[in-house]
Amino acid sequence: MYTLPHQCEFLSDEWLEVSRDFLVAECKRRGSELPPFSISEAFTDAPPHLKLAGNRATWQLSWDGALLNVSRGFNPKADLCVEGDYQAVLLTAQTVGMQAPGVMDAAMAEMRHWFGDDCLRMDGRIEDRAVIDLLSLHHDHMARKTVENPDLEHRARRQGLIGQIRQLEEDGYAIIESAITPAFADLVRESTIRAIMSHQTSSLNWMLYHGVEFEKIIQNPLLLTLIDATLGRGAVAASISSIKRGPGKGLIKLHTDYSEIPEPYPEFSMTGVGVWSFEDWHEASGPTWLVPGSHKLRRGPRKGEAADGVPIEMPKGSVVYFHHGVWHWQGDRTEPGERITLHSHFNRGILRSLEPKRVDVQLLHRNPPRLGEILGEDDWYDKMTASGRDYMRFNHTMNLNRFTDEAKARIAANWNLEDRARERLQRSRPPAA
Ligand SMILES: [Fe+2]
Repeated sequence: MYTLPHQCEFLSDEWLEVSRDFLVAECKRRGSELPPFSISEAFTDAPPHLKLAGNRATWQLSWDGALLNVSRGFNPKADLCVEGDYQAVLLTAQTVGMQAPGVMDAAMAEMRHWFGDDCLRMDGRIEDRAVIDLLSLHHDHMARKTVENPDLEHRARRQGLIGQIRQLEEDGYAIIESAITPAFADLVRESTIRAIMSHQTSSLNWMLYHGVEFEKIIQNPLLLTLIDATLGRGAVAASISSIKRGPGKGLIKLHTDYSEIPEPYPEFSMTGVGVWSFEDWHEASGPTWLVPGSHKLRRGPRKGEAADGVPIEMPKGSVVYFHHGVWHWQGDRTEPGERITLHSHFNRGILRSLEPKRVDVQLLHRNPPRLGEILGEDDWYDKMTASGRDYMRFNHTMNLNRFTDEAKARIAANWNLEDRARERLQRSRPPAA
């Protein structure tokens, strides 16, 4: 088990138990107001550690007016049948706000954008208002407890991000192209401009606290996979900042993001930044420039030192993630218009943040546990009290990071296998005529 006691993995045995407790209490309370209904779901490629038959996560729920059944198994005759891909559907299973206008539609759009239209299929319908209300409450109740798939290797494969994890090791950076929909990119861009302009500035920190769209983008599951792969679980938001800039010379010179970290830099990564593009980035846009592999120098650039870099070119809605003290700078912008960026900067969990982290009950209530993890809610250091250490969170963090390290080792072992297979293939090819 890779959760704290108040959390659970999607469609694990614990998830079913918590669902059953909730639904029993709610059905009892509603009694005869609730007409009979049934729903069943089945999702493929669930993480192997859940030990589900054929890695197929199933459950069925039925109410006959007096008795409630919550159990494993898929009932194709249920009033509503839902089928799809486990990792894809996890995005919506973690979305709180089933009845809030537009929230689920937006989550579905992001899920289908990345995983394809076929990642979720529904057959049948539930029309009764009382049943819809009950199912919505159940969905949100569980979404507040549902964690990300803790198996980093399985998750990264399902998300198609193994190549990026490899590039992060070799080059110190990787790009996730079109990680979000153009519509969501436009929304975050507009909200960022509004926040920046209202403060009469060109850059702003603490963006997490400027609107729910920032809560969503900071939890983007694709970027978080790269963060988990480089900084380990329990990494915290160091700063969530934004920059608005127009044409002209780049304003940020060659540097690393390791401020006040002594040289030589550690062999492992301490900090990483994901820069979101809300317009298409070309060299003329004044993108971030990165020096591939410079993290291996384990030092910052010396005064006056130059380096060969590459401009990060990517479409709107993409994110470039760089970490581990890789060298970078802000490019010159030669085209008109403004470049708006959001900088999602994370630190390994043992480090302090650049911005003060603040949580309130409403923010936690409208989000899954992942946002709490990002804000240090699972941090055993910060939860120490006069009566002693928080051994529950201590053990959880150790356990989760051990599992994450094992997954990373499997990813690396497969790279070596793939490399050897490629070499064999090259050796077996006849020489070119
Ligand atoms: Fe930087």
